[in-house]
This record gives sequence, structure tokens and C-alpha cells, in this order.
Amino acid sequence: MKFSACAAVGGNWAGRKLKMDKSEFQVEENPYSNIRHMIGVVSGKGGVGKSLVTASLANLMALQGYRVGIMDADITGPSIPRMYGIHGPAVGDDNGLYPLEADNGIKIISTNLLLPNEEDPVIWRGPVIANMVKQFYTDVIWGELDYLLVDMPPGTGDVPLTVFQSLPLDGIIIVTSPQDLVRMIVSKAVHMAEKMDVPVLGVVENYSYMICPHCGEKISVFGESHLEEAAEAEKLPVLGRLPINPEYAQKADAGDFAGVANDGLDRAAEVLRAMNENKS
Ligand SMILES: Nc1ncnc2c1ncn2[C@@H]1O[C@H](COP(=O)(O)OP(=O)(O)O)[C@@H](O)[C@H]1O
Ligand SMILES: [Mg+2]
Ligand SMILES: [Zn+2]
Repeated sequence: MKFSACAAVGGNWAGRKLKMDKSEFQVEENPYSNIRHMIGVVSGKGGVGKSLVTASLANLMALQGYRVGIMDADITGPSIPRMYGIHGPAVGDDNGLYPLEADNGIKIISTNLLLPNEEDPVIWRGPVIANMVKQFYTDVIWGELDYLLVDMPPGTGDVPLTVFQSLPLDGIIIVTSPQDLVRMIVSKAVHMAEKMDVPVLGVVENYSYMICPHCGEKISVFGESHLEEAAEAEKLPVLGRLPINPEYAQKADAGDFAGVANDGLDRAAEVLRAMNENKS
């Protein structure tokens, strides 16, 4: 026994980087859930379009016949239920809490579906937020899912870090905009993921360009993008680019997002599909 303990210690120090031992923080999946892949979607700050990218990718995978869920882990800035026009309260029983379903079959859980009044602001502190996210995993009955996309809290601070720690993510996707200090945001997210031993699947740029409604020309509204350089510096693939499209915002505001099928995330979808094939 003594020797095997030594071997374990040796194993810990064998890696060149000291990685966080996640096992003590991670929580158990609900016994009625069987989630094949869990993908986190992160951004440097709010308003970048993290939720829109999460929902767009979810729609794309659902259209391709996969069973998809969205965990709205952006506890203080939840927006997924509104985009799909679904309202709480989510109901539960002795086995746990049931997610609500969007028109395209995507299963959704969010603080918005639990608050007595959806309009109430969420003013909880870090530990409470982290605990909420844990419950979204342990207490929610997700059933059989090919992909659970997690709309993570923005930034790389304590709260997202704790969330990261608690959930067994298979990978993350970083969302940036051309206005961002892309290189810094990408490298911060990469470091956080590295510390947590979660692979970064790649980067998606939102608000990349706009199609002129008059002549159909592609306009780089915010000037040249620095995404390629930033992605290359971290050896990450660019998984997609979404245009500024007023229709997305309209559909999101009207709760009709289940009907949005936008191209521009095909590579991201390909990466997710490849994960599924490798695991079966
Ligand atoms: N590509 C886009 N085209 C048009 N509107 C967008 C686009 N991306 C996001 N929006 C709108 O911008 C706002 C912020 O996007 P959201 O996804 O909620 O950001 P985040 O989740 O990063 O805070 C929302 O009203 C959304 O509908
Ligand atoms: Mg959001
Ligand atoms: Zn034009």
C-alpha cells in the first residue's frame, strides 16, 4: 500500500505543469441523465454573443438529428429561455428537476426557469452561483443527450473557474468579437482551460461582418479581424464566423430562436460530430 501511494504522488508530479486535481470538486451526474459530451461556451465579457453562438450551435446539432441540451450556466445573465420563448417554472419530482423543451426539442435549464419572477435580477454571490451550476448537473434529469452545451458565465474570474471545476467538460469553445482584445482573451481562456485540463476546441468570431442589404457586399464593420493571428498563436482552429444579422436579434427577442438555422458554424458542428464518432 505504501508503494502505491508513492506511485500516485510520483504520477502527480510527472506532468510538467501542475494541474488542478478536479476530482475532489466534481459532482455526480443525475442517475437519470446520460450525457455523452459536454461542451462549454466561454467569452471574455458579456454581450459578445456567447448565448447566441451556444443556441445557434445547439440548433445546428438538433437539425442534424442529435439529442441536444443547453445548460444556461450564466446564472446572473440568463437569456436562453427567452430566446426560445419558454417559461417556467420547471417542475421536479423525487428523482430531480425536469428541463423544459424548446420547439426544436432542445432541453433547457436556466435560473430563469426557477425564479418565481423571471424579471427578478439574480444578485447571488460566487459560491451560491457555483452551487446552482452544480445542481444543474446533479439534480437535473437530462435523460439521453448527445451534447449538452453549457452557456458559461463570462470572463475568467472566480465564478467561471468554479463552474469549470465542478462540471466534467469535454471541451470549450471561445467566442470573441472583432472589438475584443482577442489575443488576450483567447490566451486567458486557454490558460484557464489548461489549468482545468479541458481541451479548447477552437474559437468562434461573432459580429464578424455584415452583408449590405442593398448590394450584398460583405462589410467588415469593425475593421480587420485579429482572430486568425490570435488563433494561430495558440494553435487553435477557427470554428466559425457569424455575421451581424438583425434577424438573429429579432428572432431571439421574439422567442423564435428555435427556427434559426444559420450557417457559419459548420466547422464547430464538424468537431462535435467527430467527438461523437470517437466515443461510440
Ligand atoms: N450576430 C449577431 N447579429 C445580430 N444580433 C446579435 C448577434 N449576436 C448577438 N446578437 C444580439 O446581441 C445581444 C447580445 O448577445 P448574447 O448572445 O445575449 O450575448 P452574451 O451571451 O455574450 O452576453 C442579444 O440581443 C443578441 O440577440
Ligand atoms: Mg448570454
Ligand atoms: Zn451595399
